[in-house]
Amino acid sequence: MTSHTMGKIVLAVLFAGVFYSGEVAGDYGGGELVSTVAEQREFDYFALALQWPPTYCSKSTKCCATNGCCRGENSPSVFTIHGLWPDYNDGTWPSCCSGPEFDANEISTLQDTLDKYWPTLSCSKSSTCHNKKGVFWAHEWEKHGTCAAPVTGDEYNYFITTINLYFTYNVTGVLFEAGYVPSNSEKYPGGGIISALENAFHATPQIICLNGALEEVRLCLTKDFKFRDCVGASDCPDYVSLPEWASSDSITAAGRLFPSHQSF
Ligand SMILES: *[C@@H]1O[C@H](CO)[C@@H](O)[C@H](O)[C@H]1NC(C)=O
Repeated sequence: MTSHTMGKIVLAVLFAGVFYSGEVAGDYGGGELVSTVAEQREFDYFALALQWPPTYCSKSTKCCATNGCCRGENSPSVFTIHGLWPDYNDGTWPSCCSGPEFDANEISTLQDTLDKYWPTLSCSKSSTCHNKKGVFWAHEWEKHGTCAAPVTGDEYNYFITTINLYFTYNVTGVLFEAGYVPSNSEKYPGGGIISALENAFHATPQIICLNGALEEVRLCLTKDFKFRDCVGASDCPDYVSLPEWASSDSITAAGRLFPSHQSF
């Protein structure tokens, strides 16, 4: 056997390993394997979910090196990425589709960008699929990215697609320009925030609040990345705040890993 042929075989084995690892390397015995990854029909549209760190971090309980809530003066002062989620038109969504498990090496070249614009806002590990835990990005890839794969492709492409959308459609810029600037004293009409986003993107977004503060903005896109209306109802009071970082700092309230409206 030539080394050339050998190389091809090695590559083929590696390739197969990558594609099966998501299913085979789980905690399951061989007998359960077939049923662990249920067939889920392909999704209908995307939601690009962006979070407002001062609100999200208000429920963070502790600090650690990886927690983007704890960067003091370098804490994010723009909306950051939560994820790009495939959704169905009926308000449900697929999750944990078949595909390779998260591999940090795949996105190592994006690490600085992810830390800055897609930061982990917690010290806790996130749930991934198959009753496992991992970093925030592992959660987003395994739960959502694998189901987006028919459109966005592999792990690297899932992350780069999401980052590109985030850079193209600057929700922070749209809201700031409309006068919705961070403040710990002002409250803004939720309808005004929605209108500002509708004017910019010509589609109805979804906004989510936590204790009266804007926590998340979701923009919805077709599978060919044109704006469309979101399906889910917004969940905010009539007047909402867009908090600044508190000087004393953000790690106060006891909190959960994820808000209840997002029970995957
Ligand atoms: C988005 O807009 C904000 C506010 O104007 C600005 O600080 C930020 O740099 C912009 N982000 C991108 C990715 O262009």
